[in-house]
Amino acid sequence: MEDKQITVTSPLLPPLEEFIPYLEKIWASKWITNNGQFHKQLEEALCEYLGVKYISVFTNGTLPLITALQALRITGEVITTPYSFVATTHALWWNGIKPVFVDIDPLTLNLDPHKIERAITPKTTAIMPVHVYGNPCNIEEIQAIADKYGLKIIYDAAHAFGVRVNGESILNYGDMSTLSFHATKTYNTVEGGALVCKDEKTKQRIDYLKNFGFAGETEVVAPGINAKMDEVRAAYGLLNLKYVDKTIENRKIIANTYREGLKQVKGISFLIDIEGVRHNYSYFPIFVDEKEYGMTRDELYYKLKGKNIFGRRYFYPLISDFSTYRELDSAKPSNLPIANKVAEQVICLPIYDNLELEDVERVINVILK
Ligand SMILES: Cc1ncc(COP(=O)(O)O)c(C=O)c1O
Repeated sequence: MEDKQITVTSPLLPPLEEFIPYLEKIWASKWITNNGQFHKQLEEALCEYLGVKYISVFTNGTLPLITALQALRITGEVITTPYSFVATTHALWWNGIKPVFVDIDPLTLNLDPHKIERAITPKTTAIMPVHVYGNPCNIEEIQAIADKYGLKIIYDAAHAFGVRVNGESILNYGDMSTLSFHATKTYNTVEGGALVCKDEKTKQRIDYLKNFGFAGETEVVAPGINAKMDEVRAAYGLLNLKYVDKTIENRKIIANTYREGLKQVKGISFLIDIEGVRHNYSYFPIFVDEKEYGMTRDELYYKLKGKNIFGRRYFYPLISDFSTYRELDSAKPSNLPIANKVAEQVICLPIYDNLELEDVERVINVILK
């Protein structure tokens, strides 16, 4: 008999019977979108849970990136990482901004602050780093560079829901942070996302922008877009928020089981655990050193697949290798040696709320042999 399939992720679904009363309220109100009761409640609940002052919920995690750039009137060139999901750079492209790739730090896999300065030109207006896998960027050094050159910072925090550094939300750094609530994330609203900002006026501008620029019944103040979250997903998100702490605990147990089971394997390494960080265990990447492990990353990836275990080679290929970006000067592999090396070594192992520990052991055993 074939082994049971283990996928890389599976959504955190709230109990269906608990969702029905929310739907009944929506049906009774006949208010299904456009700043309804659950939209407001979700924004309040997220501010409280995340420890942020102003949040605006969106229909996915890509539109907050695009909107943040509009809200801050970013133009010209923006410094960013090639080691992320394509949406990070696509958001720049959709705003007519030139992405400038800078290499990553070999320990955190986030934008290397020591390489940012030399990529700054008179056209640079902002930095768009990513807290990849939910691991915090070097926020202090990035802020110091931004302050020195008068640049804005928009953090793509799509992976970093609930992450805190010394008790402070990671979302409170930089000028703005974006989140994704996609089904694959630690916390989901099916599809969804959010934009976190620091003052009421900016939140107002974001809310105009996500609703076609409407500032009143007959007044349009900006060329906005439609990025509002509807009531069904806002209600689902409100309910799912009750389960997020539990899911982070479950993911932590899974991550620790992988670490324990694989720590002796020569040629397999993990990300470092940064002190003072409350992680969300959104991903569990391992890195395969071909020489020491005796097998390439792809060989291991296909071996797992052969056993019905589906890891993902996140983030391979690098964004800088996709055809849209490949011709940029900053996309050359010689400019991005660390990112290129890591992209060839990484496999994200299955991790999700209700992944059984015996399945985790099955994954470990395939890697051990
Ligand atoms: C780093 C990063 N940024 C942006 C996004 C886009 O989010 P969404 O899929 O919700 O549009 C993702 C999504 O998976 C992501 O991983």
